[in-house]
Amino acid sequence: MNPIESDSRRQFLRFLAASPLCSAFSGISLAQAAEAVGIPADAIDIFDLEATAAGIIPASHWGYLATGVNGDSTLRANRTAFAKYQLRSRRMLDVRNVDTSVEILGTKWPTPIVLAPVGSQKAFHAEGEIATARAAKARNHLQLLSTVSSTGVEEVAEARGDPIWFQLYTTGGWQAVQARLRRAEAAGCPVVVLTVDMAGGTDARHTLERAIRADSRDCSVCHEGDGIANQGKPMLEGSDYNAAQMQLTWEFLDRLKQDTTMKVFVKGIVRGDDAEKCLEHGADGIIVSNHGGRADDSGRGAIESLEEVAAAVGGRTTIFMDSGIRRGVDIFKALALGADAIMVGRPYIWGLGAFGQPGVERALEILTQELKIAMQSFGSPAIADIGPDNIVVG
Ligand SMILES: Cc1cc2nc3c(=O)[nH]c(=O)nc-3n(C[C@H](O)[C@H](O)[C@H](O)COP(=O)(O)O)c2cc1C
Repeated sequence: MNPIESDSRRQFLRFLAASPLCSAFSGISLAQAAEAVGIPADAIDIFDLEATAAGIIPASHWGYLATGVNGDSTLRANRTAFAKYQLRSRRMLDVRNVDTSVEILGTKWPTPIVLAPVGSQKAFHAEGEIATARAAKARNHLQLLSTVSSTGVEEVAEARGDPIWFQLYTTGGWQAVQARLRRAEAAGCPVVVLTVDMAGGTDARHTLERAIRADSRDCSVCHEGDGIANQGKPMLEGSDYNAAQMQLTWEFLDRLKQDTTMKVFVKGIVRGDDAEKCLEHGADGIIVSNHGGRADDSGRGAIESLEEVAAAVGGRTTIFMDSGIRRGVDIFKALALGADAIMVGRPYIWGLGAFGQPGVERALEILTQELKIAMQSFGSPAIADIGPDNIVVG
């Protein structure tokens, strides 16, 4: 994009940002919205990508992205809880070239930053998960694909060029689950991630409901029925798109372990005793997550849950954490509290909505750069040097 195009785009975005629709549902102030940028490189932090995407993504789709549950208390807690943990620096070390690489199940990755499974990515950009896969490939990040993705696992795995992990929802019953598992296995996924935190369903997403009401476009052009149905989702092919999830119990985890050749991670664990049970039932890893504040109205930040889970099972299994990570220091705190890797959801989707593949790449670049600065600031030449001694609870 040349500078003139970039400038007029910026003006257009400012115009959009000032519109009542945008400001009412974006959850960002007009001052923040004015931080919208014209090219990915101009984004100083993740929030510049958020401001940019807020001016581009249609209101109801923005509502789907932004929403929490009820009054969004868990969503807010995910951010505020980070402030409870403060950092202690170790001085006088050579931190000119910090090493951000990690090993996950025997595979080396340049950073511990993983792309969380986010459904329906064509709602945010025409290229959806394919743009995300190309960005993940360009920067070599692990990508997780949602069951309710806009593009099937075969195409996304091909675009990524290296194995992706598959996230499992149980919509449509056991046979539909098995069909999904066979497709993921055939596409080369080494790990299936069972999401277990949606027992209460998605009916309390008030921010989303309000945004849908405010969107004057004709949703039936793309959606049938109530406008938010899952019809047409490739990984739900052959099953009843809107059927309820199967009841998830520990027996289901046993059954899944027996049925698949993939390793099994459980996503949505927020307690130490549940983490213990995951191990008893053969899970190969745990993802501490409250679904980015979208699953329940607990009001508890995921970083606090991580502390509890790591105390229970840390060192015995692989632990990922997500929900609320926006800066390099957040990543640093999660690693210090026992995570082996972290995932981001909305931050890379803001990049996707703003600029497609280059926006996702910029989001990953910003977070990586910020993690490096945090490692230098707090005296950690390598990821293994980050530990509980870096943290104080204020
Ligand atoms: C729009 C949206 C769709 C999501 N879809 C899924 C999904 O299909 N499966 C899943 O396990 N998690 C899903 N998540 C949750 C993410 O995997 C992740 O847990 C969460 O986004 C992390 O929080 P963050 O957005 O604050 O980074 C979704 C999150 C968002 C924002």
